[in-house]
Amino acid sequence: MNMRVGRNSRAKALPAVAGITMVLMGIALLRIYGGARASGHLPAPPPADAPFTAAAKGSLTYSNDIRPLIEKHCASCHRPGQVAPFSLLTTQDVIKRAKQIADITTARTMPPWKADSHGEFLDENRLTTQERGIIRQWADEGAKLGASAPTITVKADADGWSLGKPDLILSPSKTYTLGAEGRDEFHTFVLPTNLKEDVNLEAVEVRPGNQRVVHHTILYVDTDGRAHKRAEAAGSDNYGAENGAGVPSGVVDIWTPGKQTRRLPAGIGMSVPKGSDLVLEIHYHRSGKPEPDLTKAALYFSKKPIQKHLRVFGLPVRQLWIPAGEPAYRTSGRFKVPDNVTLYSIFPHMHLLGKSMSVTISDTDGSHATLIDVPSWDFNWQNTYLFKNPVHMAPGQTIDMTAVYDNSTNNPHNPSSPPKTVGWGEQTTDEMGLVFFGYTVDRENIPAGIVVPDAGSVIRRGGR
Ligand code: HEC
Repeated sequence: MNMRVGRNSRAKALPAVAGITMVLMGIALLRIYGGARASGHLPAPPPADAPFTAAAKGSLTYSNDIRPLIEKHCASCHRPGQVAPFSLLTTQDVIKRAKQIADITTARTMPPWKADSHGEFLDENRLTTQERGIIRQWADEGAKLGASAPTITVKADADGWSLGKPDLILSPSKTYTLGAEGRDEFHTFVLPTNLKEDVNLEAVEVRPGNQRVVHHTILYVDTDGRAHKRAEAAGSDNYGAENGAGVPSGVVDIWTPGKQTRRLPAGIGMSVPKGSDLVLEIHYHRSGKPEPDLTKAALYFSKKPIQKHLRVFGLPVRQLWIPAGEPAYRTSGRFKVPDNVTLYSIFPHMHLLGKSMSVTISDTDGSHATLIDVPSWDFNWQNTYLFKNPVHMAPGQTIDMTAVYDNSTNNPHNPSSPPKTVGWGEQTTDEMGLVFFGYTVDRENIPAGIVVPDAGSVIRRGGR
């Protein structure tokens, strides 16, 4: 799933990255103890893409070669009412933009899948080298139509929820109307659960009320009512969240365009204690006219007792102090895993100066495997990547993260001109270097009374 944090990052993303940075406050260091040494098996490296083999000259057509690619990789966003600025459903939509489409796919800007991955993530949306080459060749040879082809149809968004009837649907008390003009807006809505007993969630589906303006949402659990107090002070059930929702508890969902709802693997759940509120933070992008929105969240409770809680762990860079003008400031973070754990998801996070990030794991014998590589970081498209095969790690193995930043004038997203020295902070003009993991602790067995304590310490931030 993709996280867009502003359409034009230089002009509009400045009012702080709100949500994501607040994740920090609530996410604590992995604090797990003991566990026998097990020999780990690192995941095998992904197969490399085959190089491009050109098709016979003049043989490529829209109907045969291009339409299937647009249908599979672009139509989910490029259709009426969705996030992309124009539709690519009709033949003419695509043919008239052939060169632009070839340029943007060659540059790997679209589809907006930033990880250099080859099938190791679920719901991966990327073009292969061969597919990019085909689009380029077709456009360069005059974007031929071939046999006439029907307009692409996309299964319309079902009115129903994708996993059937939810156990609880939450939404703000009334429709919120976003004003026509101004910067992007971060807004927070408090959604009381009124739960009389603790529950675990096996799935969450957030359904934006208005996809033209909802760019991403973050759903938190608030166990101590602080968001409620803040809203109450504002005389409402919602408040502006320029600097974050202010909820230090867990994140249960991040929605971004194109996200597919999935259940957690059997036996794993996300905890929502009785009496807690869910807090929905929405990043709105304005459309130029007033836009009503009523976003809803559907919760699916675990019906059977769960064995393990899904937890989130954030690994920060050790140091972060990026000199003005520095084109490739490199820093890193490392974590030695103290217990047998299983990683389900990975979410790299930097701000506007981010250039690339990679995360590897190493075994005690020195062997390495890459967990994720984001070769050209794009603040506008952040993503929770779900591992197709969960990654098992054993005590003593390490997670290493390397982040590179461009604080020169050559970085078109640099928020300061001339560049300023930048350190760690919440504002979009500050920087961060973090990677979040969704994980379980293998020895946790809640029905048997083996409950791993929740981590309590707050992430160390990278300093000078
Ligand atoms: C996840 C949603 C999504 C998918 C999938 C997607 N796009 Fe886009 N596309 C966007 C958005 C949103 C924009 C507007 C630019 C922005 O905000 O980054 C855009 C912009 C574009 C542009 C205009 C870029 C510019 O410079 O103005 C082109 C061309 C384009 N997309 C082509 C494609 C093609 C071709 C595919 C499939 C191979 C594709 N897109 C897949 C969301 C998507």
